Amino acid sequence: MFSRNFYEILHIIGIALMFVAIGGVAVHAANGGTKAESRTRKLVSIGHGVGALLVLVGGFGMLARIGMQHGAGFPAWLWVKIAIWAVLSAIVLMPYRMPSLARPFFWLLPMLAGVAVYMAVYKPIN
Ligand code: HEM
Repeated sequence: MFSRNFYEILHIIGIALMFVAIGGVAVHAANGGTKAESRTRKLVSIGHGVGALLVLVGGFGMLARIGMQHGAGFPAWLWVKIAIWAVLSAIVLMPYRMPSLARPFFWLLPMLAGVAVYMAVYKPIN
């Protein structure tokens, strides 16, 4: 049985992987790079996918350790985190489709991470 802290480490490694991948794509696209030209497509998509999975495994592992019962409804702060996870999962290739978004993404997505952490630390809504 793994500890809550172990799951938190998985959670953070997953977040780091997702952001490295999203940042790489955003910078490549902002410099005029396209998906077809990228020589790191596979690396970035595997890194982003493994990252998304680790965020889930770590997050739900921690939930079990902090006493969330099976079948209990999720609190609102958790739904906000799940929504942020879904956005971070879906958004990785977006800078190629809309290169004008690449620069704003560079600043906005880390703010979204801030919201996710705020939800976990303060649990302002239940
Ligand atoms: C499906 C998505 C997610 C789930 C199920 C989830 C779940 C959790 C849970 C249960 C905790 C521990 C709360 C506690 O101990 O009271 C936590 C902590 C944390 N989450 Fe998430 N989370 C998700 C997505 C995210 C995302 C997308 C980020 C950032 C981009 C994030 C960042 C963090 C951080 C940094 C902590 C540590 C806070 C602390 O220990 O003080 N989470 N998460």
